[in-house]
Amino acid sequence: MNDTNKPTILVTGGAGYIGSHMCVELLQSEFNVVVVDNLCNSSSASVEAVQRITQKPLTFVEGDICDQNKLDEIFRSHPIEGVLHFAGLKAVGESNEKPLAYYKNNIYGTMNLVESMARAGCKTLVFSSSATVYGTSENAPFNETEPTSATNPYGRTKLMVEQFLQDLHASDPEWRISLLRYFNPVGAHPSGEIGEDPNQIPNNLMPYISQVAVGKLPHLNIFGDDYPTPDGTGVRDYVHVVDLVRGHLKAMEHLADEPKLAIHNLGTGQGYSVLDVVHAFEKVSGVKIPYKIAERRPGDVAQSFADPAKANEELDWSAEYDLERMCEDAWRWQHNFPDGFAKAS
Ligand code: NAD
Ligand code: UD1
Repeated sequence: MNDTNKPTILVTGGAGYIGSHMCVELLQSEFNVVVVDNLCNSSSASVEAVQRITQKPLTFVEGDICDQNKLDEIFRSHPIEGVLHFAGLKAVGESNEKPLAYYKNNIYGTMNLVESMARAGCKTLVFSSSATVYGTSENAPFNETEPTSATNPYGRTKLMVEQFLQDLHASDPEWRISLLRYFNPVGAHPSGEIGEDPNQIPNNLMPYISQVAVGKLPHLNIFGDDYPTPDGTGVRDYVHVVDLVRGHLKAMEHLADEPKLAIHNLGTGQGYSVLDVVHAFEKVSGVKIPYKIAERRPGDVAQSFADPAKANEELDWSAEYDLERMCEDAWRWQHNFPDGFAKAS
């Protein structure tokens, strides 16, 4: 099934929101793709949709990255040259309630993965980190030298993985490791066939607005309108998921030059307020988004946006899609599949 002339990439968490968009880009960029995902926060329908969009096959293995034997078997069965590691748990609130599940999946799972990689002689890894590692800093725009910290178990898992991967690289400089700190990934593939599909009521802004627009939720609660920002609502750096995954291809090219450990922000550098997003979404969808002002959400900072200069220069990457395009693509997906992959399958 796989083309032996093409390099093979393992995508952990490839059935998820960002991972599925990554698989589309990889298949369209002439890679063979193997996905490992335990489907704890996704559906195999996304993997089928990826193959429909690209008209190319991929290998899907249902499995857990905490299962060492399964990972070893994957590396024995496929000539994997690099790993794009998206698998993990990502809900901040849930991480406060179930910290051990987060430490196990995100930290132990990643340790397992790098052990299997080392055994197989595959030492190229791109890790999904997060702007959450900038903690409660008020120094936006953040560049990669900003001191890091964490305020919740989810953030601590990202920080700890970043740290042990740096230790691993220091102990064995043959590793090629890219730590990508995502700002706020939103939007969907322009085909409208894949997108973000939260299991329950969305925690994040864009999927919440999309579900209000499609009539699944009555109104948006805006968490605070008294922040020291231009309109009082929180400011974030929203980045289109397709731009984001293209940054991973650039990161892999950067690692191909020579072994290194590199850290890059993936953001646009442009901050938008909650109200900016509401208005952009209303404009592209033609649907009114009712909202109420609510209490600030604990743990939120007033503003968070990237200094993307390092990724611009070293990776030759910059985001192309603007906020309206992000809303347009999020809306197309939500409109096509109001119930997400449950409806698509
Ligand atoms: P997602 O939940 O849609 O995708 C993660 C995928 O990993 C899911 O398909 C899930 O089933 C799978 N998974 C989880 N634990 C696993 C395990 N132990 N073994 C195998 N598969 C497992 O999330 P996403 O938004 O696509 O995020 C991908 C990565 O990017 C995560 O590591 C997340 O922390 C990170 N990240 C996401 C955001 C964001 O806003 N979406 C921001 C910063 C960083
Ligand atoms: C949140 C997480 C962060 C994680 C990121 C991506 C918290 C405290 N932070 O970040 O760790 O890396 O998601 O998964 O959970 N908003 C509303 N109403 C809503 C939802 C959000 O007003 O229903 C506001 C928020 O207050 C914020 C902005 O919209 O100002 C964006 O929120 P969100 O999409 O959750 O992203 P982050 O807060 O950046």
